[in-house]
Amino acid sequence: MFDLLDTSLEQNAYAAVKAGQALFALTHKRMASQIRQWLFPAFEPQTQSLSSEALQLLTESRDRLIERDWKDAREGVYPIEILFDNNIEEFFKAYALIWQDYPQTWQRVISQTYKDFSPQIQKKEKDYPQYYFRNFHFQTDGYLSERSAEIYDLQVELLFNGAADVMRRRIIAPLKAGLHSDRGHLLDVACGTGRSLQFLQKTLPKMSLYGIDLSHPYLKKARERLGNKVHLKQGKGEALPYPDRFFTVVTSTFVFHEIPAPIRQQIFDECYRVLKPGGILILCDSLQAGDIPKLDPVLSNFATVFHEPYYLNYLQDNLSDRLQNSGFGKIETQIHWLSKYWIVRKS
Ligand SMILES: C[S@@+](CC[C@H](N)C(=O)[O-])C[C@H]1O[C@@H](n2cnc3c(N)ncnc32)[C@H](O)[C@@H]1O
Repeated sequence: MFDLLDTSLEQNAYAAVKAGQALFALTHKRMASQIRQWLFPAFEPQTQSLSSEALQLLTESRDRLIERDWKDAREGVYPIEILFDNNIEEFFKAYALIWQDYPQTWQRVISQTYKDFSPQIQKKEKDYPQYYFRNFHFQTDGYLSERSAEIYDLQVELLFNGAADVMRRRIIAPLKAGLHSDRGHLLDVACGTGRSLQFLQKTLPKMSLYGIDLSHPYLKKARERLGNKVHLKQGKGEALPYPDRFFTVVTSTFVFHEIPAPIRQQIFDECYRVLKPGGILILCDSLQAGDIPKLDPVLSNFATVFHEPYYLNYLQDNLSDRLQNSGFGKIETQIHWLSKYWIVRKS
């Protein structure tokens, strides 16, 4: 009886946190857009408005995503604490920085400037691939400063109305279902500040975890978050510095829409190479065009508002074909709210 009461209180607490985060994010975005209009009245992004059916679909599918997250935690797929791991101090610090950064970001949006770096960062240009050295989302410093790393997670949560981590966590259920043992080596490609690895660390404590990313400052943030046991390396997903057949699992969240198509293929080839036979690859990224046709305007609006030079190509790209070109066999796909998942085992 008390167990039931506890469960229902926890479930309500989680639903209330998520509803509060959605309300906060929507209010924040409305406020930011209002202030941008005051400051730059001539600028109006050419976005498509959403039908009431699309809005309803968005709300219902977000609710299903949150329910699923709760259910998985309740059933022990991952620990329930990871649903409530928000750090208030980090939140306030990042939130203040986001507001400080808006005027510069808006200037870049209006002038469509996407190669705007401080001299310190500019001199490192040759260290990075050309497709990467830019202000993604028009954000200050692109992925190349500690300040950018400080605000990234909150920016993504605000963009997805408090459900970005929830979408990342959807890689865990198919991963656990496909594992033969809770030990092995797991690599997260383009791990960023380490959010997915943080959930995986708490869920699979016996697994040896590895993360690779091009951004030194994002890796520094990941290191603070994950401690010294996780093997983090700076490098390219398309040239993984690991031996053949080393990993039991490879994961990746939210990167393929930010890289050109030939690099996507190279990363899949590399994932295939470093996976052991029988190993699992699980990818999560944006929903694609035509997956849920009523939501197509949401996707094209994203490319209009943010600097996302490879996103329109990504929307049409057949990643299952690409995975098969790399050698993978039968691919399962899933859709949860605004994200899509590819789950495949190397034979
Ligand atoms: C949108 S963020 C996603 C980060 C993280 N996976 C997450 O879920 O938040 C994209 C990340 O991909 C990294 N990245 C982009 N291209 C890459 C490449 N070719 N190899 C390795 N990392 C890359 C960026 O530095 C950035 O951290």
